[in-house]
Amino acid sequence: MKVHVADHPLVSHKLTVLRDRETDSPTFRRLAEELVTLLAYEATRDVRVELVEVTTPVTTANGVRLSEPRPLVVPILRAGLGMLEGMQRLLPTAEVGFLGMIRDEETLEASTYAERLPDDLSNRQCYVLDPMLATGGTLAAAIDFLVERGADHIIAITLLAAPEGIARLEEELEDVDVPVMLVTAGLDERLDEQGYIVPGLGDAGDRLYGVV
Ligand code: URA
Repeated sequence: MKVHVADHPLVSHKLTVLRDRETDSPTFRRLAEELVTLLAYEATRDVRVELVEVTTPVTTANGVRLSEPRPLVVPILRAGLGMLEGMQRLLPTAEVGFLGMIRDEETLEASTYAERLPDDLSNRQCYVLDPMLATGGTLAAAIDFLVERGADHIIAITLLAAPEGIARLEEELEDVDVPVMLVTAGLDERLDEQGYIVPGLGDAGDRLYGVV
């Protein structure tokens, strides 16, 4: 798995405000979207395109456009929803599928409780949105799900990642032939005993939408 930690002062600035516990939900949502748009720029470096010719007011020019099938953006419910608009700003014609995954707070294992995705993901590049790569269980299960459906290139975008989560993903992906890349705004120190990323930003879903 290729790991790309975005190294840009605007990314670091926005991430710092997200970490601050004094940042309220509306500001958190806006900054998360802006941050994802910056990450999306890095994450779509290998988005598939095809050559086209256009007629300019002066002459013709060679260019590119997004290939078919269009990329699929998959926010993982619920916190991944807070990243969707930021991604769509850069890839407005991508299709969107939804994957609902829940983490058992005791075992920290993830399971699927809802999905709305095409049955056949052959030749699809899939952009999975999940703000926090903590234990790696949720993302590993989501990637498995997409690979089972035929996805042939998966790019996971997170706001933060923990070394434990990256290690688990690498282990679980050992036998997976599909290329997977992780793009994140920050790589933090570790997980605490509850599985929270340290120093982290707390519960991303609660920060985005309040405690429910
Ligand atoms: N999920 C979160 O929302 N935050 C963490 O720190 C870990 C998992």
